Amino acid sequence: MPMEIERLINAATSARERAYAPYSEYRVGAAVLTGNGTIHSGCNVENASYGLTICAERNAICSAVASGDQQFEVIVICTEDGGSPCGACRQVIGEFGNVRVLTIDGRGQVVLDTSLEQLLPDAFRRG
Ligand code: THU
Repeated sequence: MPMEIERLINAATSARERAYAPYSEYRVGAAVLTGNGTIHSGCNVENASYGLTICAERNAICSAVASGDQQFEVIVICTEDGGSPCGACRQVIGEFGNVRVLTIDGRGQVVLDTSLEQLLPDAFRRG
C-alpha cells in the first residue's frame, strides 16, 4: 500500500478517536490528502439539537480550506463498519472534483475504494 494512503488511514483512525458522538455513539474520522502532500483531518461533532451535528468529512474539508488547501486527491473515512459517506458530504467533497474515496473499518481494513463521481453521479453544479 502506498505510504500516503497509510498515512491517511492512520490520520483518519486517530481523528475517529477524537469524535464527539455522545448521542449516536457512531464515531467517524476523516482525512484528506492535498496536492502538496499535506493531510487534514476531521471527526464528527454532534450536538444536543441533533440537526447541528457536523460530519467528519465536512470538518476535514473545512479545516483544509481554512488552512489554504483546496486541491484534494484522496479522502479516507473511518467508521466501525467502513460505512459510506452521506449524501451531504458527497456533495461537499464533489465541490472539489472527482476525489478518490476510501472507507475503512475500525481495524484499518479498506472496505470501499471508489471515486466521488461513482458515489454521486450527475451531481448538482453551478454552470
Ligand atoms: N456521520 C459522519 O460523520 N459522516 C457521514 O458521512 C455520515 C454520518 C456522523 C453524523 C453523526 O454524528 C453520526 O455519524 C451518526 O449519523
